[in-house]
Amino acid sequence: MSTTIQPTVSHTPVMVQEVLHALAVQPGGRYVDCSVGGGGHAEAILEVASPGGLLLGIDADPRALQIAHSRLARFGDAVLLVEGNFRDVQTICRSHGFAPVHGVLFDLGLSSLQLAEEGRGFSFQVEAPLDMRFSPQQTVTAADIANTYTEEALADLLWRYGQEPRSRRIARRIVRERPLETTTQLAKVVEKAVGRGHRRLHPATRIFQALRIAVNQELENLSAALEGSRDLLGYSGRLTAISFHSLEDAIVKNFFRQESRDCICPPDVPACVCDHKASLKVVTRGAIRPTPSEVAANPRSRSARLRVAERL
Ligand SMILES: C[S@@+](CC[C@H](N)C(=O)[O-])C[C@H]1O[C@@H](n2cnc3c(N)ncnc32)[C@H](O)[C@@H]1O
Repeated sequence: MSTTIQPTVSHTPVMVQEVLHALAVQPGGRYVDCSVGGGGHAEAILEVASPGGLLLGIDADPRALQIAHSRLARFGDAVLLVEGNFRDVQTICRSHGFAPVHGVLFDLGLSSLQLAEEGRGFSFQVEAPLDMRFSPQQTVTAADIANTYTEEALADLLWRYGQEPRSRRIARRIVRERPLETTTQLAKVVEKAVGRGHRRLHPATRIFQALRIAVNQELENLSAALEGSRDLLGYSGRLTAISFHSLEDAIVKNFFRQESRDCICPPDVPACVCDHKASLKVVTRGAIRPTPSEVAANPRSRSARLRVAERL
């Protein structure tokens, strides 16, 4: 990569000390950061893993990788940055001879850099085309979904991915007012459908979350990536994931729970027929949350939940 970009907004990585502890980072260890973003967590991991430590960082967003590239330049050959989708983590790592590994990190969702970046369409507070793709290689944008889905399909999507109780009313209004081209246009349509209300959360927040999840197939990718990364871990390697909403957290929690059991037969089956073998041990019973002082210093961290499992 020849060009570097200097971001005007910065992204503060969440729960850095908790992540280092969860990954049990050690000098000479080998780590995969599946969502390297601006490289904040990766930098902290490499500092502890040096000398001899290696990190492979993946991101779907080439602009994020440019920022990570300049931030991590001082680690030289200890870092390998790959543009790709983390659902392919296993193929990516194996094709670079990067397995087995001591730890894998997911820091899910989007970064403050992406939220603030002009033209990306992630924020309803920044006028931009309704895009929301993490990667320019993806073909479907938020505008495509908002303007082509049937009212029923749109309502289902807002309900499922935005957990929006007024999804039908909002979907009806979107369909009536389309074509919708920009973020602020969509935010106004949502306001027209359900009002501004007196709640802390703008009513467009959930709608933008739902569209972003759908555009980037975030839940499907996470499920595939958890399996792929589990298979990369060496004995007692750590699998760690930070999620920012309950849909992601439920996927991580259920994966860890299922993979830490020897039998996953339904409870009404009298004798085990599944032959399933536990591959993980859940390290922390519940999710680890940021400290109150971190939340005060970085409000974005308030919904973060970190889960940790160890390879058996
Ligand atoms: C919260 S940010 C990570 C920030 C990073 N930990 C740091 O300290 O700077 C999440 C990153 O994951 C990337 N991402 C989201 N889904 C992805 C996927 N399926 N494959 C690859 N990268 C993805 C986003 O582009 C974004 O840069």
